[in-house]
Amino acid sequence: MRYTVVLTARFPDVARALLAPHFDLIEHPTEPERSEEDVITILADADAAITLLSDPITRRVLESNPNLRIVSNFAVGTNNIDVDAARELGITVTNTPGVLTEATADLTMALLLAVTRRVVEGDREVRETGRSPWEPLKLLGASLQGKRLGILGMGRIGSAVATRARAFGMDVLGVRRGEPLDELLATSDILSIHAPLTRETHHIIDAAALARMKRDAYLVNTARGPLVDEDALCDALDRGQLRGAALDVYEHEPAVNPRLLAMPNVVVVPHIGSATEEARNAMARIAATNVLLFLHGQEPLHRV
Ligand code: GLV
Repeated sequence: MRYTVVLTARFPDVARALLAPHFDLIEHPTEPERSEEDVITILADADAAITLLSDPITRRVLESNPNLRIVSNFAVGTNNIDVDAARELGITVTNTPGVLTEATADLTMALLLAVTRRVVEGDREVRETGRSPWEPLKLLGASLQGKRLGILGMGRIGSAVATRARAFGMDVLGVRRGEPLDELLATSDILSIHAPLTRETHHIIDAAALARMKRDAYLVNTARGPLVDEDALCDALDRGQLRGAALDVYEHEPAVNPRLLAMPNVVVVPHIGSATEEARNAMARIAATNVLLFLHGQEPLHRV
């Protein structure tokens, strides 16, 4: 019998190329706002699924299809999946770690530089005025040399950011899972978040944490939106406690808090941390290989 693999989005072609010779494929258009019901519907015939980080793979979804044997998430984060329920139901969950580390670290530096050097404000000014006059006091930002970068989450991506930041002359303080945040919050000029979203890390940066940050510090988040209490972040920016923020991820993705959009000292990009051709192709290759190996009775590359 031929297994059916459901692709819940349009992924790089390599996924189809690897899977089509072996399995029946059902490919859906990319839809980043699927409900549980939507996912239950599209996974109805799946023995295996390659899923988006925005697909809610809840217990109800996992229980709805008794044939489903593997969920291969096209992401390193698996916070969209009830991994405990999958384990109980005997459904394998896999992810795509490693190949997006450098791309995400690069974007973190892009955001860090953009917010401290006011790149987006400058771009807007040049476009709006059609001119670029040099002025001694225009768009003054903060230099990175000698500043402390606090890294919340010193895993693969956090460590790759640390390497880059040291090359910019920054003093890096990294904190690993479970370590206290006191020094990190009190001494970082820029705080960059690289932790997975779990029950423990939800709102790890809340109003209390923000209040303990250095005045005029910056916050950068390329991890997951709900790590930060977004309303509390807006309040901290409004009060001038923080000097700026640069965000790739949002608490209620794909929605973005309108308060953030109104602030010129906030840089916003649409969850593009891993969006290089190299990284996305490598993620597709891994996500498909996880399914291929598993359905052929072998161990997938990256079991969660
Ligand atoms: C992207 O956000 C990922 O988790 O891979």
